[in-house]
Amino acid sequence: MTTLETSTKSATTITADVVVVGVGTTGHGPALVGSDALGRHHGALTDRLAALGVTGKPDQVVRVAAPESWKAPAVVLTGVGPVEEVDAEALRRAAGAATRSLSGVGHAVLALPARDAADAGAVAEGALLGAFSAGTYRSEPETPVERLTLATVKGKEIDAAADRARIVAGHVNATRDLVNASPGELYPESFADRAKELARKTKVTVDVLDVAALEAGGYGGLVGVGKGSTRGPRLVTVSYAPKRAKKRYALVGKGITFDSGGLSLKPPKSMETMKSDMAGAAAVLHTVLAAAELGLPVAVTGYLPLAENLPSGTAQRPSDVLTQRDGTTVEVTNTDAEGRLVLADALVDAVAAKPDAVLDIATLTGAQVVALGDRTAGIMGTDDARADVVAAADAAGEAAWPMPLPPELLDGLRSPVADLKNSGERAGGMLTAGVFLQQFVGDAPWAHIDIAGPSYNSAKPFGYTPVGGTGYGVRTMLGYLEARAAS
Ligand code: BES
Ligand code: MN
Ligand code: ZN
Repeated sequence: MTTLETSTKSATTITADVVVVGVGTTGHGPALVGSDALGRHHGALTDRLAALGVTGKPDQVVRVAAPESWKAPAVVLTGVGPVEEVDAEALRRAAGAATRSLSGVGHAVLALPARDAADAGAVAEGALLGAFSAGTYRSEPETPVERLTLATVKGKEIDAAADRARIVAGHVNATRDLVNASPGELYPESFADRAKELARKTKVTVDVLDVAALEAGGYGGLVGVGKGSTRGPRLVTVSYAPKRAKKRYALVGKGITFDSGGLSLKPPKSMETMKSDMAGAAAVLHTVLAAAELGLPVAVTGYLPLAENLPSGTAQRPSDVLTQRDGTTVEVTNTDAEGRLVLADALVDAVAAKPDAVLDIATLTGAQVVALGDRTAGIMGTDDARADVVAAADAAGEAAWPMPLPPELLDGLRSPVADLKNSGERAGGMLTAGVFLQQFVGDAPWAHIDIAGPSYNSAKPFGYTPVGGTGYGVRTMLGYLEARAAS
């Protein structure tokens, strides 16, 4: 694991392997940004940028020899984009792109703009998120940069920002690890064990319902979806309840440890990434752990409905009718629309506890990817909660966009035999799934986050985002909780 410390020394005077410097684009070519951290020693570098082919565009990372007078032998120049638009996310991405290029390096100094807490926190967070190695199953895994020194100024706020960045990035990276885990190893029971292990020695308590308890409790959705697998479903509840908490929030995360589609089997190509169908549950687990580690003054309960969606002689069939936790009957017309079934049961429990708001996060629909692409989450729900989540996502640098819940889509979910069916028309599939969930939240303030696309990166790495699990949602939900705590 990469360590990060702060230093008030000038970056050029620190003994290290490389110094990371930001370069922005201007009307007259590339320019160093935050060069105050370089003291008076940056002129030699500035003059050579254009000749080195350095553009300052995002995701361009160039490593060159450092000027003679610097303590470190190399400089990593990382693009931040237009200098007049350098915001927190531009810094996160530039820092992350740089640290992604540093695997195998021992010690790097970060000389990106970090003179206030917001900038320092962004650089630290981005750098630690970029310093992530996904290849844990490889015989020769890449080792991320060992040690980072953030060149900054003295200040309590700066240190607090660095502390927060370490905690947040640690939990985002741990979420990525869970998502990347082989589904042969990470199944409902082992996921539940993992949650208990992670919560040990923290202020988070964990409660697990096994199949017998789920059957007895009337969790028909979770039981139905889990029926096809020899590894039964679980409902894991993780709670952080500090004494001084005035507000309480519920987070529900879809935890399908592998989604084959069930008897409504997916084609092989669509199945390849379906180990990531528990990304919502992983994000919820680590958000609650992070909230506890940060000592947030709000209570948070995470609900993780975990199941493996497989076809077999014991699997649920298309046309089976199940009864959700609240008594609603559902005709399962498509066993691949399983997420909403497990979420519905958990949402019923979440709402019954009467929290100030409920958020759910789920790799719920392929339609989300069609509508918004693979980096932007769709946010639905009640007006205020939806707006609060979109604002939190914007602040965290996680792309998200508000989406409606057209009431007429409920017509498509009418069943001739039961209260509802679980899949409707193809058009507006993301919204239909949201409308299905809406039937189980009553009048609670609620937001639904569809992360089918942004939870998993099958393309190229960018900024601080690696290939594979991205950890999407942890920073948005944490920011949401922090904002509620402050309001
Ligand atoms: N887990 C999938 C959704 C998904 C698709 C996540 C692609 C990530 C990437 C979900 O369980 C699913 O299969 N949804 C169906 C719903 C349909 C049958 C109504 C879908 O989107 O096709
Ligand atoms: Mn499915
Ligand atoms: Zn699924």
